[in-house]
Amino acid sequence: MRNKDFADLWTKNLMANYATPSITLVKGKGSVVFDADGNRYIDMLGGIATNILGHSHPVVVSAVSRQIKILSHVSNFYAHPNVIELAQTLIRLTGNKDSRVFFAQSGAEVNEAAIKLSRKTGRTRIVATTSSFHGRTTGSLSLTGQSSKRTPFLPLLKNVKHIPFGDIKKAKKAINSKTAMFIVEPIMGEAGVIVPPADYLKEVRKYCTAHGALLVIDAVQTGIGRTGQWFGYEYSGIQPDVITVAKGLGAGLPLAAMIAVGKSSQLFAPGDHGSTFGGNPVTTAASVAAIKWIEKNKILAKCKADFRYIHSSLKTVQGVREVRGAGLLIGIALEKDISSSIAIQLQERGILVNAANPNTIRIAPALTISKKELAKFVEVFKEVMRDVN
Ligand SMILES: Cc1ncc(COP(=O)(O)O)c(C=O)c1O
Repeated sequence: MRNKDFADLWTKNLMANYATPSITLVKGKGSVVFDADGNRYIDMLGGIATNILGHSHPVVVSAVSRQIKILSHVSNFYAHPNVIELAQTLIRLTGNKDSRVFFAQSGAEVNEAAIKLSRKTGRTRIVATTSSFHGRTTGSLSLTGQSSKRTPFLPLLKNVKHIPFGDIKKAKKAINSKTAMFIVEPIMGEAGVIVPPADYLKEVRKYCTAHGALLVIDAVQTGIGRTGQWFGYEYSGIQPDVITVAKGLGAGLPLAAMIAVGKSSQLFAPGDHGSTFGGNPVTTAASVAAIKWIEKNKILAKCKADFRYIHSSLKTVQGVREVRGAGLLIGIALEKDISSSIAIQLQERGILVNAANPNTIRIAPALTISKKELAKFVEVFKEVMRDVN
């Protein structure tokens, strides 16, 4: 079957919540994927910041295969060594040994968990930011700051106030002694890779501490090394009360975590929350193996160097306004609203990217992507921009 056949079947069988994809991907290795017609692509999107080690990385394949042969799933009536090892690893990465972890499968779910955790403070008011993306379940959509996604599903949770991202004065005004939590992405991913002012997180930390509000860092997209730091907020020097991670955490398998740091780790009591698949032995095996590999191979430093390379290679290309982000979460802002057309042209020339908004191309490839593959992306991107100019 070819791309066209799959597209027809998609339309006939899947709900219309996604546009029908023009290509069907059937196999991949590292940062290279192939579609049903046999076309080869460099995957510069990594399942949207998810396949941190690329496709079928040997350490992930072997960890998953080993685990599925022994034991596939246990309920949360029982412990499993992998879930404990991964929780220990995440706690170590936060730098605060009093942290505790709750596992789930998706970013929306762990943000839901954060909402429930914040209710245990006895408060219900939440502050979030305009244009943010925190998920599409009813609770997480209440946090998401995009009216196009929210409006068809109103009414959502009450008591959620959205303030402009990066606006320190508005944050100071909005966070008060009734605020249960303030949730923020260290870099807004879905909005088009938007970086806040350098002192933003430090300032919001101050206001949250002053009023006893939880500071929740949504590191679903920025987490697990993507920005050249483990969670994406560390450059600010702050310690959040809660960190949510998903996407890259499972190295291509569905896995998410809410990490409650310090005192907030004591807020949940038995029965307060749960998830059947949370902390599944197979997904946590993949995660432990991937994180070990990232540490051993000094991938965080590589991501920082990759950002410098893409930034210096593309910032002066005609038609590019700005290259922003950190590590391998990069937004290439264009002077005109042509990102969809650029993404299609790149796809036709063997490069997969995403048009995050009308004038921004987002790339979030595997952290393992090679210099040669990045150089190929730069070359093809320049060609496409030359053709449109
Ligand atoms: C910052 C952020 N939070 C939450 C989510 C929701 O994650 P999921 O799609 O796994 O529910 C996303 C997804 O793109 C995200 O980027």
